[in-house]
Amino acid sequence: MIYRPIVLDKEVVFSKKKFIVSKTDVDGIILFVNKNFCEVSGYTQSELVGEPHSVLRHPDMPKAIFYMLWKSLLSGMEISAVVKNLAKSGEYYWVIADFSIKRDKYGKLESFSSFRRIASKEVIEVMQILYAEMLLVERRKGVEGSLRYLENFLEEKNMSYEEFLEDLVKPKGILALLINNFKKVLN
Ligand SMILES: Cc1cc2nc3c(=O)[nH]c(=O)nc-3n(C[C@H](O)[C@H](O)[C@H](O)COP(=O)(O)O)c2cc1C
Repeated sequence: MIYRPIVLDKEVVFSKKKFIVSKTDVDGIILFVNKNFCEVSGYTQSELVGEPHSVLRHPDMPKAIFYMLWKSLLSGMEISAVVKNLAKSGEYYWVIADFSIKRDKYGKLESFSSFRRIASKEVIEVMQILYAEMLLVERRKGVEGSLRYLENFLEEKNMSYEEFLEDLVKPKGILALLINNFKKVLN
């Protein structure tokens, strides 16, 4: 059982070469976390395994983002998201997370994985404003209202959610190579 920390307005900063990985069952219960996950979040492996992934949920995150995440994964579609996470210390860290799906030999969903890297200042700036607006709408009009807000935001940009994220977070140069190699090792 993990107690919710007191939220602090302080950032955990970590190297952009430090990839944070976790794996959950289809209910979001943590099955595996890598060393970087523990280092950045401040939790040990044994504290995290068996807990729901929401132990890292930061109150600044709109519910609508997690609604989209689960809707997508449970319908068999991989997705990416920018997430503000809550460390054990109460500090926060922003990540760009790519979520993937593993199926068993019968094609049934078996587990989900998330591969994360630190989000740049530019990415955080954009997402912070968007998420703050979504949260405000969510308080008045619920998740449905917040999803509609996101839809209108994307419509104004004439982009799908995937296009918007791709445009914002796409890794470049050496970092792109490093990430692709790391993901190959994981699979
Ligand atoms: C593979 C995987 C990784 C996840 N990683 C995170 C994470 O790092 N932080 C987080 O807040 N939620 C993460 N989630 C989403 C949580 O399961 C949960 O939906 C979210 O924290 C919101 O919690 P709530 O539904 O209890 O409000 C992840 C889910 C999956 C499937």
